[in-house]
Amino acid sequence: MPEINPEKAVEVKPGVWWVGWPDHEAGFSNNPYLILEGEEAILLDPGSRLDIHWNWVKTKIESIIPIEKITMVIVHHQDPDLCAAIPLVEEIVGVNNFEIVTTERSALFVPYYGVKTEVTAVSDGESIEIGEEGRELFFITTPYLHFPGAMVTYDTKEKILFSSDIFAGFSIDWSLYANEYYLEAMKVFSQPYLSDQRHVHNFLRKIEGLELEMICPQHGSIIPKEQIDQAVETLRNLEVGIWQ
Ligand SMILES: [Fe+2]
Ligand SMILES: [Fe+2]
Repeated sequence: MPEINPEKAVEVKPGVWWVGWPDHEAGFSNNPYLILEGEEAILLDPGSRLDIHWNWVKTKIESIIPIEKITMVIVHHQDPDLCAAIPLVEEIVGVNNFEIVTTERSALFVPYYGVKTEVTAVSDGESIEIGEEGRELFFITTPYLHFPGAMVTYDTKEKILFSSDIFAGFSIDWSLYANEYYLEAMKVFSQPYLSDQRHVHNFLRKIEGLELEMICPQHGSIIPKEQIDQAVETLRNLEVGIWQ
């Protein structure tokens, strides 16, 4: 396992980088990711615009590529912990010099952050091809998990599910990769954040046929292949929609 250097991105699969930050005070880690494929540089869920947060992300991205090289930002829903930094990306890359991709419902709210770049809305099952070798990013909507217009992204090349707030965890003894406490951290996060078991089961049906090498949630820890089955079963059997 690679060591965490606050200034360096961590390559979690070839060409896929974790560019996030642990927030031990709030119990949240936030996990933006960067995918590099040919000329494409895709930033997923860039995160908060607070200096203390954005500086981590920016420094980590710049340890790999100049921010100006970003060609696309994907946001899995409209929350500030995913979207608030988009105007800061825009300041560097330039308005309409990159693409912003999200669902139709989230596309309504992204401009509320002061984003001026046009937002591209994608639907369930839509995919985009990146690079020259047929790599696809495949979008799967996840209604009510936890926003009606939420989605996740599946990367066909590295077989990663970027799962947003699903499979996310609070930072109980945080580590970049899931440790022995992670299922508990995931339960504590999922019970209040995920709305209803029906929607969880619907989502699990949608991802059933996907080959998964890794799950990369937006909070908490990355789930490597050998821990995926257990994480799926934990989610399947969890009572959610509970606020205590
Ligand atoms: Fe959220
Ligand atoms: Fe979140």
